[in-house]
Amino acid sequence: MSECKCGNSKENPELKEILKNYEKDKSNLIQILNQVQEKYGYISTQAQKEISEYLDISMAEVYGVITFYSRFTLKPKGKYNIAVCLGTACFVKGSEKVLDKVKEILKIDVGQTTEDGLFSIEATRCVGACGLAPVFTVNDEVYGKATPEMVESIIKRIKEEENSVAQK
Ligand code: FES
Repeated sequence: MSECKCGNSKENPELKEILKNYEKDKSNLIQILNQVQEKYGYISTQAQKEISEYLDISMAEVYGVITFYSRFTLKPKGKYNIAVCLGTACFVKGSEKVLDKVKEILKIDVGQTTEDGLFSIEATRCVGACGLAPVFTVNDEVYGKATPEMVESIIKRIKEEENSVAQK
């Protein structure tokens, strides 16, 4: 039996443990996806397959729900997930420019992760900090009154910190 904890192994006892908590009813799909997303940080193809078999629904249905809700992801997020709020308050104050800057620096699009696994980008709806608009977050850290220059310097700082850790 594989030791892999990433959600990609053929046999995944941990996923089975999650599934056991739910009746085989398709109304439980979103709750199951929530738990899998929380545990693994994304929902792998293998996990989608096991969930579809368990609930006796098609993979397309599972996939459709995952791609409909922005909180679910199909790939692992980066060590630093940069989420730019595109809610109304942030949008009118220029959050799109912040997002464009992040995409330009990291050379990836929303929903993608850099090759080194360090960064991923997410576009979110209101995160409840409209007074600080425009807002972005890096993992759990919230940055308000954001500008493209601000996000650029934060990414630079993270890269420098990571480089100095790698050199030790
Ligand atoms: S709209 Fe961005 S925090 Fe509310």
